Amino acid sequence: MATQRTLCIIKPDAVEKRVQGAILQRLLEEGFQILGMRQKRLSRTEAEGFYEVHKERPFFDELCTFMSRGPVVVVALERDDAVAHYRKVIGATNPADADEGTIRKLYGGSVGENAAHGSDSEENGLKEIAYFFAGHELL
Ligand code: CMP
Repeated sequence: MATQRTLCIIKPDAVEKRVQGAILQRLLEEGFQILGMRQKRLSRTEAEGFYEVHKERPFFDELCTFMSRGPVVVVALERDDAVAHYRKVIGATNPADADEGTIRKLYGGSVGENAAHGSDSEENGLKEIAYFFAGHELL
């Protein structure tokens, strides 16, 4: 299976709950390599730019307000079949629908505050990594 890259964002709700370490530990146990990692607080403009694809959605304003309310941890990940495997590990967007043991089931509270972001394709994973990391910052 091909090696791929994907972006994880540990969202403000998960950082507030102090579960960043547990989420990173899980990703390491799942065989992901951490190519780059940074804790930062997104400006409103950065959040809007990152989620630009959703700008016409009714939840866009709420999403950007939430994503810029406190620190996040952005993590560039690599693994065989990284995009699909990561999506399986985080679970469904709405924690109420997520399988037991997934990150969103364990740590998410609602569809908006769902603990972790995941890229939805290999192409978007690469774009999203480039949004936060320069090439020379990645292992
Ligand atoms: P994420 O993987 O970060 O990608 C887009 C985000 O939009 C998604 O996770 C959800 O947190 C958020 N989202 C999707 N649907 C809704 C909704 N109905 N209300 C609020 N936020 C939503």
